Amino acid sequence: MMKKKILAISGSTRKQSSNEVILNIIADWYADTLDIEIYDGIGKLPHFNPDQAGEHCPDVVKQFQDKIQNSDGVLICTPEYVFSLPGSLKNAIEWNVATTVFSGKPVATIVASASGEKAFEALNLIMTTLESNLPDSCRLLIRGARGKVKDGQIADKDTEDQIKALMDSLADVMEANEPVSVEKV
Ligand SMILES: Cc1cc2nc3c(=O)[nH]c(=O)nc-3n(C[C@H](O)[C@H](O)[C@H](O)COP(=O)(O)O)c2cc1C
Repeated sequence: MMKKKILAISGSTRKQSSNEVILNIIADWYADTLDIEIYDGIGKLPHFNPDQAGEHCPDVVKQFQDKIQNSDGVLICTPEYVFSLPGSLKNAIEWNVATTVFSGKPVATIVASASGEKAFEALNLIMTTLESNLPDSCRLLIRGARGKVKDGQIADKDTEDQIKALMDSLADVMEANEPVSVEKV
């Protein structure tokens, strides 16, 4: 059977980011069963401009949209910055507001941050507004992230279990969803 394709997006552009570490660990854990690509381009997307949205959007934006469209699911893992989403993640999402790439798309959200409540609330509101398929079981808030993600490892067993439960749910949602048709793009 074909492995399901997941596009993973870290909301932190920092080297050694705990959010990127989490995505790398998930990609390792599921290497045999899922095809997880970690998108490293959010820092390179231009600032969103509605005049450039749609057919004539910049190539890097089109490539990003194609990656979302061609994935069976999207996994977003982000910190909170000043009680909201990091600007570069918000910007990346804004490019997709006038498209349907997230419509019905299985999505899982992880906010790994010092506290993170506001970003968690905002991210889930944004993704459900874009009509993503985002059940509660695909949403995880990891508070005190720097203490739980250390030296490239998940240092907390409960957090490890919660991430695995979230990935199991995402796998179930993808399984139940319409398969992605590459021809449609
Ligand atoms: C500009 C900035 C603003 C921040 N604001 C918040 C905040 O509002 N809430 C919070 O929980 N953590 C905040 N933090 C701390 C981050 O949660 C923490 O640095 C986290 O480890 C960042 O994730 P990363 O390791 O993936 O880069 C902020 C960090 C930065 C750099």
